[in-house]
Amino acid sequence: MLDTVQFLDTTLRDGEQTPGVSFQLVEKVDFARTLDALGVDMIEAGFAGASQGDFEAVRAIAKTVSTGVCSLARCVETDIRAAAEALKDAKKPRIHVFIATSPLHRQAKLNMNREQVLQAAVHSVTLAKSLCADVQFSAEDATRTELDFLYEIYTAAAKAGATVLNIPDTVGYATVKEYGDLIADLYARVVGQREDLILSAHCHNDLGLATATSLEAVRRGARQVECTLNGLGERAGNAPLEEILMGLRTRKDVYGVRDNLHPKELYRISRLAAGLSGVEIPPNKAVVGANAFVHQSGIHQHGVLNNRATYEIMKPEELGIPQGGVVLGKLSGRHALREHAMELGFELTEHELNRAFEKFKELCDRKKDVTERDVMAICREQMHGATGSYRMNSFQIFSGNHMTSTATVSLQKDGDVITRADCGDGPVEACFHAVDQITKLKCALESYQLRAVTEGEDALGEVTVRVRHGETVMLGKGVSTDIIEASCLAYLNAVNRLAEACQEQDEAANNERT
Ligand code: KIV
Ligand code: ZN
Repeated sequence: MLDTVQFLDTTLRDGEQTPGVSFQLVEKVDFARTLDALGVDMIEAGFAGASQGDFEAVRAIAKTVSTGVCSLARCVETDIRAAAEALKDAKKPRIHVFIATSPLHRQAKLNMNREQVLQAAVHSVTLAKSLCADVQFSAEDATRTELDFLYEIYTAAAKAGATVLNIPDTVGYATVKEYGDLIADLYARVVGQREDLILSAHCHNDLGLATATSLEAVRRGARQVECTLNGLGERAGNAPLEEILMGLRTRKDVYGVRDNLHPKELYRISRLAAGLSGVEIPPNKAVVGANAFVHQSGIHQHGVLNNRATYEIMKPEELGIPQGGVVLGKLSGRHALREHAMELGFELTEHELNRAFEKFKELCDRKKDVTERDVMAICREQMHGATGSYRMNSFQIFSGNHMTSTATVSLQKDGDVITRADCGDGPVEACFHAVDQITKLKCALESYQLRAVTEGEDALGEVTVRVRHGETVMLGKGVSTDIIEASCLAYLNAVNRLAEACQEQDEAANNERT
């Protein structure tokens, strides 16, 4: 059995199925570059046959990174051909073909019997193999599929040329033992003497077991794990990459395997995933949560001061977690901000850095201590910046109990200042309505979140909004010590991104026509 476990990261495919999350093309390419730096063996870049946007994303990532890139495809000819076409420029391309196999899915989703599913799988793996040497096959909902049918379909897929057999616990249903036994059985019966064939674990977290099932799979013979950063994914998410990696490394005595990853990149990429998706990392999240290496009780602090190993089983510096508290102040320059932002996982463009620096200086005037968490909030806001045709100039509100709130907002666009007033149910809504009057985009607010970045009365407020325009939903972020200003900035950020997306869609439609 091989002694190296490969990591397939599916943050950009399964992870993008997190409710409310959608990544822009440039964000996907940036994220893929960071995955490449982390050392993952395979990036599942999307589902090329699903939409033009996904196709372009797979193609752009395939052109950019040096590691493996794969695209998902149903057992449908157009999907498989789209995947092959999008992967044309990849250095290590793989087509990932899947079909549901459980009785429930066969009947309720596919309306196909076993024989039909088997034939579709064999036919599709054969076609994929004729277009790409590396083909992965997944039996969706494998853990609720009859065992004899699983043996049959995986054996047939391997015979048709599949190089990786992926065993999805699609709804996180299997117990740890059941999943481990299944992997061991498939290893014995299907992989057999074919050492080149790789068994892969793909676990979901519906019962909170995704990390445990993935690790057990490795112990029982899987040599690829599929996962996402921070466990992003449909419903309760996928198995979190950082937990599997650190589980394997910390308990090498049990798992006895190697990997090709560089854990020093973990903190950075985990923050990037949170920033791009808008899904915050819970403080008590294993490995990458803010509290993962914080010791509150006196007894623990005493132990850690004497010897960190008393209460820490991993070294935070090995995960790239920056050490130290308050970091920057009034006298810090642009260079220091850029360096620190990089340490925290944000690679800012020149334009983003300029805006972040402006904000940072403003904050230094308003707030006594600028902490790491403040810097992160500022960077997150900039990362969501659109090239932004509209910029905040000023706003004024009248609000109180027993009155309708009104807001007057002035925005700059191409050197002009446009001012409009409107009212709303509270000052935040009044501001949003005034912005809508200026941009003339018909937007609906889908969600609004406000959180204090640090403790204390002078804390920065960070607002995250999701705004819909037609079929497109955009995330926007804004930070300020004034929460109405933070709200306006977040809304404006989302609206600018929507305006950009609309423009791109119009251009694409025009190109198609001509
Ligand atoms: O969870 C699942 O079954 C999947 C497959 C498409 C691999 O994501
Ligand atoms: Zn999945």
